[in-house]
Amino acid sequence: MSRRKQIYEGKAKILYEGPEPGTIVQYFKDDATAFNAQKKATLDGKGVLNNRISEFVMIRLAEIGIPTHFIKRLNMREQLIKAVEIVPLEVICRNVAAGTMSKRLGIEEGEKLPRSIVEFCLKRDDLGDPLIAEEHIHAFGWATQSELDEMIAMTLRINDYLQGMFSGIGINLIDFKIEFGRLPITEGANAGGYQIILADEISPDSCRLWDRETNKKLDKDRFRRDLGDVTEAYTEVATRLGILKEANNKITPTLSVVSNED
Ligand code: C5P
Repeated sequence: MSRRKQIYEGKAKILYEGPEPGTIVQYFKDDATAFNAQKKATLDGKGVLNNRISEFVMIRLAEIGIPTHFIKRLNMREQLIKAVEIVPLEVICRNVAAGTMSKRLGIEEGEKLPRSIVEFCLKRDDLGDPLIAEEHIHAFGWATQSELDEMIAMTLRINDYLQGMFSGIGINLIDFKIEFGRLPITEGANAGGYQIILADEISPDSCRLWDRETNKKLDKDRFRRDLGDVTEAYTEVATRLGILKEANNKITPTLSVVSNED
């Protein structure tokens, strides 16, 4: 079998040409990076966990009517997704102050925000993904007004749903980052146009997840802040979501994932 063509390699994922036109294979690496790749490590099993968690979340969101790029999981580290043109924005939604918002505005981490706040960053690694205003998006044409309206509306719906989903397993959703893509419309009245759909991933790499009782961080901040037990925390999230099974009351991430493999 010939080797697949690699389309793109990011910090935590690789994209390969899919088996059919309009499809892509998204491969989840074990690599972790932070602070614009100044800090790097390989975390055994992280890719497997994020593949499963993102699959789970994307399926739940599709069930409530959010269009996503997810087609199906292929194996432990890969999922088949729809090919889209990525909107060059990182859309961040925050419920509780943390991270760069706390630093920028001097709000103590953990302080509940008066309401959920949506922010935009420009996807530009070389600039450190700077925070931008809607004005920049309009002026530079990074998205149209209607695309922006759709992205904001979807982000708030996703936030509502995920807050409830995580709350049900004793986790507070502090904030998260999502990305959107433009999917070409090939049929019907809007043929030739684009539909905005959810792309990339939703996992503990892209969310802040705190245990409701203890405020223990169950997300990438464990890596960013050298708190240790990173994959254990991701495993905890997957287990609470019911994705992984506990063996002998002990969570065995790689083994249980392997044994779940189809
Ligand atoms: O660092 P900051 O506080 O701005 O991050 C807000 C949220 O967006 C966090 O959940 C973080 O994990 C996520 N994020 C991300 N990728 C980035 C920047 C932030 O997933 N490049």
